[in-house]
Amino acid sequence: MAQTTYIADIAKYLGQEVTLQGWIYNSTQKGKLQFIMLRDGTGIIQCVLFKGNVSDELFDACLALTQESSARISGTVTEDKRAKGGFELQISGVEILQVAGEFPISPKEHGIDFLMEHRHLWLRSALQHAVLRVRHEVIRACRDYFDNLGFTLIDAPIFTPAACEGTTTLFETNYFDEKAYLTQSGQLYMEAAAMAFGKVYCFGPTFRAEKSKTRRHLTEFWMIEPEVAYCDLAMDMQYAEGLIAYIVERVLDNRQEELKRLERDISKLEAIQKPFPRLDYDDAAKILKDAGSSFVYGDDLGAPDETIISQKYASPVMVTHYPADVKAFYMKRDPQRNDRALCVDVLAPEGYGEIIGGGQREDDLQALLARIKAHNLPQEAFDWYLDLRKYGSVPHAGFGLGLERTVTWLCGLQHIRETIPFPRTISRIYP
Ligand code: 4AD
Ligand code: MG
Repeated sequence: MAQTTYIADIAKYLGQEVTLQGWIYNSTQKGKLQFIMLRDGTGIIQCVLFKGNVSDELFDACLALTQESSARISGTVTEDKRAKGGFELQISGVEILQVAGEFPISPKEHGIDFLMEHRHLWLRSALQHAVLRVRHEVIRACRDYFDNLGFTLIDAPIFTPAACEGTTTLFETNYFDEKAYLTQSGQLYMEAAAMAFGKVYCFGPTFRAEKSKTRRHLTEFWMIEPEVAYCDLAMDMQYAEGLIAYIVERVLDNRQEELKRLERDISKLEAIQKPFPRLDYDDAAKILKDAGSSFVYGDDLGAPDETIISQKYASPVMVTHYPADVKAFYMKRDPQRNDRALCVDVLAPEGYGEIIGGGQREDDLQALLARIKAHNLPQEAFDWYLDLRKYGSVPHAGFGLGLERTVTWLCGLQHIRETIPFPRTISRIYP
């Protein structure tokens, strides 16, 4: 039996006999030759079957191989400049595991609902494969960025007793005789961890009962959330900027092929440079007014407003000092201007909108208590959180980067739903 290998590693076996294990992408016959395109998850390769090299029985069996049939194919690796990937396999043997039934997803156009309904099979297509490979690289880059800076990874719980990001998007669940909520953000737990470890981050799924159908919202999405003790807004923004620049660099270094397959305009990503432009809310409001937007001063920025602002710059834009009233209860207020929060939203270029939200946290016990009351939040559920302001409270800050929003932007996609393997939205929980 020849050495089993993956298509991605095929170059190492030039001239040798190997066995590949995969699925048939398509095949064509030309007289005594069959050309079988095999994919194995790491790549795709043309395998050439010459009638004289195998039994007639096997040659005929191979003719019956349908799209997505599974097989082990053995043969000699040869170089072919014209072939995709530069190599071919000259087949010496085929072990058919299963001849697949008619595959629902063919190269013809399918509607998005049909594709989403078949997401478990759609994952095999080249474009979906590329998007999820970019996603993997972004995850690795996030972890490496914080690990290299000496952060400790601390996992936040999924079941929580309280709301972090407002009560309107909470998913409630029964927790024995009590109510619990699926976490909206690991932040409050990271604040506890930052007081124990200095610099921490979590990376996990977060949940929001988003009742609107938009291109930017999932009900289950992943967030990377750093939190740093003795950190102010300016330093927090440096971490945010550094993280995004690093992610872009890693994706450009390691996922060029995927970006090309997605027909992403790579020059737009190459143009991203630190330092990112910094605007405060008033600067942003002025841009919107000049652009003739219907934006109301004092409100949060809507998706169309973010689009207008982000299209003005080649790099992500950092917008700070929003009115405290439109932001979460835990935000520290600007001592210079008490109605403003020491917060930052980072807007991705090309109209992709907010990918990061964060800022400096209220570190004063009395001020925090007053905010919890003002937001009508149940104080008992926050007693532990208030403890953090009783025992060595310090200035601290952090942020959350939405993984799927980031991947949507990097891949240049129209919609967020393809950036997570199995998306959950208001209208979808299957498959
Ligand atoms: O701005 P948000 O709500 O901030 C927080 O949750 C903070 N507690 C984070 C922190 O400071 N540790 O959410 C952060 C990011 C957004 O910028 C966006 O990228 C993403 O999470 N996000 C969503 N992504 C997909 N679908 C949704 N429904 C999202 N809601 C937020
Ligand atoms: Mg936000």
